[in-house]
Amino acid sequence: MQAREFDVVVWGASGFTGRLVAEHLLTRYGADRELRWALGGRNAARLEAVRSELGAAAAGLPILTANIDDAASLAALVARTRVICTTVGPYALYGSGLVAACAASGTHYCDLTGEVQWMRRMIDAHHETARQSGARIVHTCGFDSIPSDLGVFDLQRAFMERFGRPAERVAFRGLEFRGGFSGGTIASMLNMLNEADHDASIYPLLADPYGLNPAGERHGLDGPEPALPAFDNERRAWLTPFVMASINTKVVRRSNALAGYPYGHDFRYDEATVMPHGLWGFPAALAMSVASAAGMAAMRVPSVRRFVGKRLPQPGEGPSAAVRESGFYLLELTASTRVSAAQRLTLRIRGDRDPGYGSTARMLGESAVCLAQDALDSAGGVLTPATAMGGALVRRLTERAGITFEY
Ligand SMILES: NC(=O)c1ccc[n+]([C@@H]2O[C@H](COP(=O)([O-])OP(=O)(O)OC[C@H]3O[C@@H](n4cnc5c(N)ncnc54)[C@H](OP(=O)(O)O)[C@@H]3O)[C@@H](O)[C@H]2O)c1
Repeated sequence: MQAREFDVVVWGASGFTGRLVAEHLLTRYGADRELRWALGGRNAARLEAVRSELGAAAAGLPILTANIDDAASLAALVARTRVICTTVGPYALYGSGLVAACAASGTHYCDLTGEVQWMRRMIDAHHETARQSGARIVHTCGFDSIPSDLGVFDLQRAFMERFGRPAERVAFRGLEFRGGFSGGTIASMLNMLNEADHDASIYPLLADPYGLNPAGERHGLDGPEPALPAFDNERRAWLTPFVMASINTKVVRRSNALAGYPYGHDFRYDEATVMPHGLWGFPAALAMSVASAAGMAAMRVPSVRRFVGKRLPQPGEGPSAAVRESGFYLLELTASTRVSAAQRLTLRIRGDRDPGYGSTARMLGESAVCLAQDALDSAGGVLTPATAMGGALVRRLTERAGITFEY
């Protein structure tokens, strides 16, 4: 890549999550020391307000503006930086031009989308261009899907080291969470449902476990996500479907396919939430499964969606600093084989902030710095966190983002 003026531009720094990303970069890297970075967005006045709220340390941060409806302004923006780190969502509404500009110009890119239908469109439209330009386009660099994707990546590396072969199965279990939702995330979910009203291919894509795999490789041993609770005999506990499973599992399977199947062609992966032990385990699992299935079914009805949407947090709103700082999560990934019960390895991932914002903002910020500064051996393309950044990002998250990986 030719020399560029900036390492990273945080695009959407005036939004709820973008501001948190900017705060993280400022705390970790300062305004103009080891990282050359800038605040970006559509509205200079709002960006200036964010810069002054960030305090005196942020005074030297440049502000860049562009218009997402003007391809020339996006091309000029992305040509100035090695990496675009974007929180401008819903991405399906506002993000396509930016991905196109990055893919064409060889600018690396990371975002927080969980919009599967849009990721599929970006893969189909830009993977080949990005491969040729060398741009690493990386979606899902937040709670969905970094812990899942890098968790499996690191667990398979450790399993291979110990047993000389990859694990045939990895089970991801959500053990504990505390956090909240933002208006931007809700707007993204509502937009996907709005799109599905007019596009009959969206629900089948969401239900396809291999929906993000390269064309011709959309097959494997895993079936659709389960909708009902299941009993886990080993834990003696009930499991309920994990809310982000339909995104995360597809990302993990895409990583395996893009990397040439290092986890094997018969690799199986699933995600679930573990319910409390004891008498309440089954009723709680059933209530959560039924509530989430009924909620999704109700939200397919446009009038219900409009009614509920008005009563949830609006774009720009999200959990308070107290909620983010008292938030946390604990996940457990277990790798196993059919060959021998002794070949088994468990990884616990802990985050010291709420998953959706405090921890997500740090994951996205570190992904951007990793793409800008680390020596990565991946080629360009529409990649995943594991295939683009792998071990380099695991190191950054454990050293700089309050996340621990414990075997
Ligand atoms: N995957 C995860 O774990 C995760 C977690 C958190 C958030 N997210 C996703 O991140 C995205 C942002 O969420 P949020 O809560 O931060 O949203 P938000 O507070 O509504 O912020 C949205 C940002 O987009 C900008 N924007 C909106 N329309 C634009 C346009 N036409 N042109 C240029 N900029 C525009 C806004 O700029 P203005 O200030 O000028 O309006 C603002 O900076 C959502 O898609 C959400 O789903 C994902």
